[in-house]
Order: sequence, then C-alpha cells, then structure tokens
Amino acid sequence: MFDDLRSIFKKGTSGARPGQSGSFHGDFSSPGSGSGPNTKIIVVVNQKGGCGKTTTCINLSAGLAKKNLRVLVVDLDPQAHSSLGLGIDVYGLSASIYDVLVKSKELDQVILPTYLEHLDIAPSTSLLTGAQLEIADLLGRESLLRTSIWRMLNTNVRQYDYVIMDCSPSLNLITINGLVAAQSVLVPIQAHYFSLEGMRELLSTIKTVKERINAELDVLGILPTIFDSRTRMSREVLLQLREYFKEKLLKSIIRMNIKLADASAHGRAIFDYDPYSNGAKDYSFLVNEIISLTRPELAAPMPEGSAVLEIQEENG
Ligand SMILES: Nc1ncnc2c1ncn2[C@@H]1O[C@H](COP(=O)(O)OP(=O)(O)OP(=O)(O)O)[C@@H](O)[C@H]1O
Ligand SMILES: [Mg+2]
Repeated sequence: MFDDLRSIFKKGTSGARPGQSGSFHGDFSSPGSGSGPNTKIIVVVNQKGGCGKTTTCINLSAGLAKKNLRVLVVDLDPQAHSSLGLGIDVYGLSASIYDVLVKSKELDQVILPTYLEHLDIAPSTSLLTGAQLEIADLLGRESLLRTSIWRMLNTNVRQYDYVIMDCSPSLNLITINGLVAAQSVLVPIQAHYFSLEGMRELLSTIKTVKERINAELDVLGILPTIFDSRTRMSREVLLQLREYFKEKLLKSIIRMNIKLADASAHGRAIFDYDPYSNGAKDYSFLVNEIISLTRPELAAPMPEGSAVLEIQEENG
C-alpha cells in the first residue's frame, strides 16, 4: 500500500518508459502543456459502491458554481445519479455522454444547463452500460473523453474553471477514460472498517494510468464521507485513514446527514435544499479546501464551524 502511495503522490514525476508517451500528445493542448485554458479537471473515483461519489460530485460542483466558478459535471455512470440529482430528466434526453464516447459527438452538443447558474452537465443514461464494449476495439479507447474535453476547451466553444466527473462503482474502461482525462483524483471513502478494501486496486490503477498515459495525474485528496461521529468505529477508522494517507487525507469530513440524500432525491444541491444543515456546512468546507488546493490564488479563509472543529468539540 505504501509503495503505491509513494509513487502516486510524488508530484510531477513521469513514470513513462522510453518510447512511451508519458503525457497525452494530441492535437489539443492539455493542462500540463503550458498553453490553453486553465481548467481544473477532477475525477471522483472509488470502485466501492455507495461511498458518496455522486453526492460529492453534485455538492462540490454546486458549491464551486455558487462562487461564480464555471463548472461542468460529466456523468460517467450509467445509473445517471449525478444527472438525476441535479434535476435532469434523463429519460427525455436526445443525446448524452454515451454519444460522445461511442458516436463521436462533440461534447458541447450534449451539454445541458442545470437549474444553477454557472453549472452545466454532460448527462448520462443507461445506454452507457454497453459503451465500454462498443469502444473496446477503438484505437485510443482510453483517451476518447480526454480528447473530447480538450477539443471543446481549446476551440473556445465553452469555457469552464472546473470539470468534475462522477464515475460508476467500477474500474472499467469508462472510469479509465475519466482517469485519463483528469488532472487529479478525489477519492471519497466511507469511514467504515472495510473501507480500505479495494484501495490497493484503485491506487494501482491510478499508478498505471499515470505511468502509461497521463503523467500529470495526481491524487487531490482522500475524503472521509458518511462519517458517524457518534461511533467509536468511525473515529478509529479516521485515525487509520490518517495513518495510511497522511497529508493526502483532506481536512474536510462529510458527516452522515440524511438531508444530503433528501436533497439529491429532490434534484437539488444541499445548499439550495437545506443551507443550514451539517451537510451544507461540510460540503462548503470541502469547496473551500478544494479551491485552496487547486486555485490557491482564489482561496478564502476556511468557514467557521467546520466538520473537523465540530467533531473535535463533540468528542471533547
Ligand atoms: N453524508 C451522507 N449522509 C447520509 N447519506 C449520504 C451521505 N452521502 C451519501 N449519502 C447517501 O448514500 C447513498 C450513496 O451515496 P452516493 O450515491 O453519493 O454514493 P456513490 O458512491 O455515488 O454510489 P455508487 O457507487 O452507487 O455510484 C445515497 O443514497 C446518498 O444519498
Ligand atoms: Mg454514484
């Protein structure tokens, strides 16, 4: 585990072998190339189901948009929960991310506005389930999404400050497309005894993508989610996570809060559904932490009453 971590967390190193592309070489400038738009591209990944990927994608994106940052959510899960959670009618769509990956449709042609200003989405549908088989034999099958995103950004059709991708609970070819398209990975992890299971596979996949295709890929942070501060187990697991991930464990902690589930069911971000809930406080803290990690020039002081402080107070 530690070996995996060391090589992934070492910034700016390309593990590419001679003759092998350490970073994407396409027609379109990528973030590491020193030209082109300064878009931050984050993928939310964990192949473990139900650990808060979608809830994090929706509320982080909405929180950034509420700070007047232009955000595109890319829904890479056939369950389409991010699309549904942002109020999109996925059953009436004429095009989706499936068409981008499989039918070579331009990304900007499938993007829809959400109910929130500055927040757009490239929605998903259940069609995406079959997409990985349909693209399996294509040349450059792992880079289809990356090429689409940068073609859109570099042709100035649409500009975004952040692109945030939500993945399905699987390390399949669609998720790999997300990892290849991203600069950084955000890993929500439920504070539970078995939460570290599967991390080795995830970290090794990230390492392989970084070495072979996308040298700029970095782990942005590990985010403890669905944290029940009343249980000793949650607190013990948190200590275990800190020991494993060290400074990569984010300061933000997302507490268990039923309002987060209610908000998604109503197609709204937590800030609109219940702005005074613990869910809104915790995601607001995360939004600030992500800004401070990715755009330090914009970082505001962390809000008062953060989850970390409250959990410390709750536990004396
Ligand atoms: N902090 C939280 N407190 C309470 N419920 C939560 C919290 N975060 C997420 N949930 C709920 O837990 C369930 C799983 O969350 P979510 O859909 O975000 O996970 P996921 O990792 O995207 O799942 P999947 O792997 O199926 O895509 C959902 O019903 C969601 O509303
Ligand atoms: Mg999900």
